[in-house]
Amino acid sequence: MIPDSIIVALQKEMQKLGYISRDAVNQIAERFHVSPTHVYSVASFYQQFSFIPQGKNVIAVCTGTACFIAGAEKILTMLKEELGISEGEITPDGKFSIQKNTRCLGKCSTAPIVMINERVYENATVEQIKEAIHELR
Ligand code: FES
Repeated sequence: MIPDSIIVALQKEMQKLGYISRDAVNQIAERFHVSPTHVYSVASFYQQFSFIPQGKNVIAVCTGTACFIAGAEKILTMLKEELGISEGEITPDGKFSIQKNTRCLGKCSTAPIVMINERVYENATVEQIKEAIHELR
């Protein structure tokens, strides 16, 4: 069983730094008297935690089968051109990052799905996501 407090500690770290650093893993492990491997395994289980730095605004384009068929690739291509970064990278100003390998987000019936931070865009279009990016700039 995973103590809720480890998850809360990981969430606080994500809010503070935007990712889970090696130091954070060690500190959380020490605080909760568990091994760093245990903390890694907990953080790896949840998609909300990242071990690499992320932008202020995190974009996830689902590339699962339903979203791929519905045009997710066009949205991803637009984002890469618009932001000048690839999946797994951060814009130089730190404002945006595109998550790597985003798989099914469980909303296949309204594909394609794009998430920008906590907001979910269903039946997402290139124009809609481009506008959302411009508003966040
Ligand atoms: S494949 Fe994208 S939500 Fe399921």
